[in-house]
Amino acid sequence: MKILLAGSGQLAKELQPILLSIGEVIAVDRTRLDLSQPESIRQVMAEVRPDLVINAAAYTAVDKAESEPELAHAVNGIAPGIFAEECEKIGATLIHISTDYVFDGSSGLAYLETDNTNPLGTYGKSKLAGEEAIRKAGNRHIIIRTAWVYGNEGKGNFVKTMLRLGKEREEIRVVADQIGSPTWTKDLAEAISQLIPKIGPETCGTYQYTNSGVCSWYDFAIAIFEEADQIGFPLKIQRVIPITTAEYPTPAKRPAFSVLSTGKISAVLGAHPPHWRQGLRQMLAKELTVDS
Ligand SMILES: NC(=O)c1ccc[n+]([C@@H]2O[C@H](COP(=O)([O-])OP(=O)(O)OC[C@H]3O[C@@H](n4cnc5c(N)ncnc54)[C@H](OP(=O)(O)O)[C@@H]3O)[C@@H](O)[C@H]2O)c1
Repeated sequence: MKILLAGSGQLAKELQPILLSIGEVIAVDRTRLDLSQPESIRQVMAEVRPDLVINAAAYTAVDKAESEPELAHAVNGIAPGIFAEECEKIGATLIHISTDYVFDGSSGLAYLETDNTNPLGTYGKSKLAGEEAIRKAGNRHIIIRTAWVYGNEGKGNFVKTMLRLGKEREEIRVVADQIGSPTWTKDLAEAISQLIPKIGPETCGTYQYTNSGVCSWYDFAIAIFEEADQIGFPLKIQRVIPITTAEYPTPAKRPAFSVLSTGKISAVLGAHPPHWRQGLRQMLAKELTVDS
């Protein structure tokens, strides 16, 4: 199987070695494939003629998107539809990654794939447009919404930021009124690879995958410091202070509750995702090995 992997971020980097056991992987970063340029996508698709495309690239700067809506829309809203159209033409399947930010967070129950979407910010709106463009192009796709993603690879994420701040400062303030499910890229990448052999007309559609369990960013920060301290990360941090979203204004509005139901993907894979704290522990252990 020939797999075109778009992106070079934290998820793409985690996926690449795992996919090697499934097929030939052609990994393309923005130097070869610029998602803001439709022609660039069509050209790479024509050159590679993959059996499977995994789009792990996206405009992910949630706050910056508020001041760059056109670029966010081009990369997240338009490009996925072009991938889907090109896949339909050559009989390839598209696996596309989407986000919990398609929801407004006003629910108190884990969101189902079929629940009404209502993104609050430009990033969420652009990602929803991407989902819709894919669905419009046909049926040969799997959309996987995920949330609160962190990994050992890539430029940065919440865990890496906490580790850095925890080394530098005695006190930090973290938002305690946004609830979600932290998701380790390795667990997500494994789930994607397990889904690939199950792709067929009856399994195409929209799924959600996060690690199990829920917490606030504040709980997550506490857990990061507890687990990191236990395995010997050098930390200066003494206090983590819970604050409200109102006390930490950001350009983009974020959902207060973005827990995703993972029942549908668990039924296909035959297992529930590992708990987020287990993923965190494994990620930190790996991070410490790389650090030392
Ligand atoms: N991170 C999260 O918390 C989170 C939560 C929910 C869903 N997701 C989704 O999960 C997926 C993977 O995200 P991630 O966390 O791995 O993101 P990431 O680390 O920020 O990686 C994003 C990748 O997209 C690439 N990219 C951005 N603009 C591009 C363009 N115009 N052309 C080509 N490539 C471009 C980036 O390239 P450069 O490095 O060159 O900029 C980078 O390789 C995305 O679909 C994202 O929306 C992420």
